[in-house]
Amino acid sequence: MTATDTGGLQNTSPPNQKSVPIVSMRNIQKSFGSVHALRGASVDVYSGEIVALVGDNGAGKSTLVKVMAGVHAADSGDFEIDGKPANIRTPADATAHGIATVYQDLALCNNLDAVQNLFLGRELTGSGFFGRRIRRAECEVRAREVMTRMRLGNLSLTRPVGAMSGGQRQNIAIARSILWTPKVVILDEPTAALSHSAAQRVADLIRGLADDGLGIVIVSHDIHHFVVNATDRIEVMRLGANAASFRSKDVTGEMVVNAMVGGNEGVNLAG
Ligand SMILES: Nc1ncnc2c1ncn2[C@@H]1O[C@H](COP(=O)(O)OP(=O)(O)OP(=O)(O)O)[C@@H](O)[C@H]1O
Ligand SMILES: [Mg+2]
Repeated sequence: MTATDTGGLQNTSPPNQKSVPIVSMRNIQKSFGSVHALRGASVDVYSGEIVALVGDNGAGKSTLVKVMAGVHAADSGDFEIDGKPANIRTPADATAHGIATVYQDLALCNNLDAVQNLFLGRELTGSGFFGRRIRRAECEVRAREVMTRMRLGNLSLTRPVGAMSGGQRQNIAIARSILWTPKVVILDEPTAALSHSAAQRVADLIRGLADDGLGIVIVSHDIHHFVVNATDRIEVMRLGANAASFRSKDVTGEMVVNAMVGGNEGVNLAG
């Protein structure tokens, strides 16, 4: 299928959503030494919307979300939050602007329980050594609130997360990301190691977060199941730039894969 078959190119602004994206990144350039990882990549994230970033290995997906998360500073390009220019150069900048990230390795401590993992590195502490004066009761109340919001009320808060399933650990990592009420949550490959049913659970969970008004960005290679069924919009990246843009409900996995590998030059069906 080509752009002509589908009525031509259209603007990407999704209907039924605020016209100003929470995050707008335009024409982002990023090099690592001689590797030109991002060559003018762009992505918008709207409230209530789940955006998939897809593309072949090395297309620049992780680099783009790491720029959004402040892990890498862009060499150039425009970065706006709620329509205003934002200078995001560090993870702390991104956090301060309401951008949270769930990393692929989840970065959980297996010997700690869910409450401890949720508050890892930012415990509600009194004075004293790191971790010694955690206001545990307060953390537990907050953890329970978040788990209930995520409809995970029956997940143990006191079992070491190392004894939990991959899906449960993923849920705890997502819970940790929304603990400080971000506006946007980025997930890099959230379903890579999960069974079909656990991936479905992640899909339900992020839909709940989007329904609460969060913007969700998901990097995924699971095109045929997760991406086409659980997201709203699909941005295809190739060689560090945008190759195509689709509304998820309008495409098949095959169309997306074709755009990933080089057909469909500049297709935009996301309007
Ligand atoms: N820290 C880094 N230092 C040097 N090169 C990097 C670094 N991070 C990424 N790259 C390079 O940038 C390019 C884009 O990588 P990136 O990780 O963004 O791709 P990706 O789309 O996430 O791929 P994958 O699907 O394999 O995760 C690749 O050529 C990669 O080798
Ligand atoms: Mg990656």
